[in-house]
Amino acid sequence: MTIINSTLTPASPTRKGLGFPFLFHNSGVNQKIYKNYMHMAVGHVLNFLENRDTPFSGVQPEELKKRFDLIDLDNSQQNVDFEKVLEEVKDLYLDHAVAFHHPKYIAHLNCPILTPAIAAEVLISSVNSSLDTWDQSAGGTLIEQKLIRWTCDLIGYKDQADGIFTSGGTQSNLMALLMARDQFCQEKLGVNIKIDGLPPEASRFRIFTSENSHFSIKKNAAVLGLGHKSVIGVPVDNQFRMSTSALEEAIKEELNKGNIPIAVIGTAGTTDFGSIDPLEKIASIASKYQLWFHTDAAVGGALLMSSTQASRLKGIEHSDSVTIDYHKTFFQPVSCSGFLFKNKDAARYICYHADYLNSKEQEKQGLPNNVNKSLQTTKRFDALKLWMTLRTLGREMLSKHYEYTLLLSKQAAHLIGKDPAFELLHQPELNCLVFRFNPGSNLNEEQLNVLNLNIRQSLFKEGKVIIASTKVRGTTYLKFTILNPLMTIKDFHFILNQIKQHADLHQ
Ligand SMILES: Cc1ncc(COP(=O)(O)O)c(C=O)c1O
Repeated sequence: MTIINSTLTPASPTRKGLGFPFLFHNSGVNQKIYKNYMHMAVGHVLNFLENRDTPFSGVQPEELKKRFDLIDLDNSQQNVDFEKVLEEVKDLYLDHAVAFHHPKYIAHLNCPILTPAIAAEVLISSVNSSLDTWDQSAGGTLIEQKLIRWTCDLIGYKDQADGIFTSGGTQSNLMALLMARDQFCQEKLGVNIKIDGLPPEASRFRIFTSENSHFSIKKNAAVLGLGHKSVIGVPVDNQFRMSTSALEEAIKEELNKGNIPIAVIGTAGTTDFGSIDPLEKIASIASKYQLWFHTDAAVGGALLMSSTQASRLKGIEHSDSVTIDYHKTFFQPVSCSGFLFKNKDAARYICYHADYLNSKEQEKQGLPNNVNKSLQTTKRFDALKLWMTLRTLGREMLSKHYEYTLLLSKQAAHLIGKDPAFELLHQPELNCLVFRFNPGSNLNEEQLNVLNLNIRQSLFKEGKVIIASTKVRGTTYLKFTILNPLMTIKDFHFILNQIKQHADLHQ
């Protein structure tokens, strides 16, 4: 190896006129800036709360885009009054940001968030630990690992289990499919995908999941080189839960075609209906056909915290892996999600030892490096949010937030069900309600589809009430996702009236 012998002395850099006062560090000047900026930013957030009569301003992209077109980022001035920067952000973003805490927002799986977790975000960003290795995080790694163990205990996993915080359910589901694929190849075909890539048999791999499971399953199958065609959508029963007889039939059918089943994915809380697949039965079918069994509990995982509700996920403990999204039903800010797996040895399908970061020697020394089981390298300390939440509220109080929304969803379903203007598609298992406006007039199906889509769109444009829509077997429905414990049944009276008023505008 050549040793570089440098003879030229480089010019020393000068800090004259710079001083770098904005870099976060322990100096009087920076401390003042830090406190002032924090104070000002918090002031704007409080204004956002106070001035929000509606969940959305109704701004249109073209209108907002015009303001962005006027901004030349290369011409940003130095030392601009921070208040001016915040005013600009207010105009471009805060005034129009969709407010998830607002009791008239019930569109997607966004929850209002808990204050201890927001305070944690200040610590997370200010200290800026990276949770990939012990030498960049120390206690942070142990906080994450203790919460992973806590979640494993909720699932009913034994000591051999492990897990990792991820950026969201999509990434957690990706890790599940990756482990399923790689374990199958290693154990059944003797192929190490990590080294050798996909074997020719991979084009025949098949993954079974309910036809109502999250789209990330298909997307991830494509990312993993298996293609959308590898995902077999299993029919559901009339409550949108995977039919286990159809699952077994589908497995047999694929085997008859010469295809190779490798995994089955149960959903504990589907995105549209909140339906919970029969996990115990799926587990036994997975075991019979020796398939990796993953449970996507991104939505329903919070049931596990509840002494009265946890048993509804019975069977989850048999899963080889589980997705849990704390940023959905644990009231945590984005991002905060978990991927848990029953046998910690499966981390080997993800582990890579880089000499500069997490060398094999470090492993021998017993250093806890989370990167060994993570797809991400640099990794946010999202775990601190859940930690500070649990330490402030306790598990029971946290769970009560979710349990309230479950009861409220039932009440809302009752209200919709008894109103002749609406057609309720299902009874809620969790927080989602799918229904449509159909006052029994002489509109045909196509006209009803257009009407319901128009209702959703015009509500969004007005901004007073934000709901979602979806399609079920070609028919357009409206959808509520009820995750806000600040709501009461009165809010639903108002929302349903708004829907009727907007329907009138479009008939
Ligand atoms: C059942 C389910 N799984 C996975 C995901 C993906 O989660 P994320 O948006 O956190 O990536 C979602 C998102 O809505 C979901 O509903």
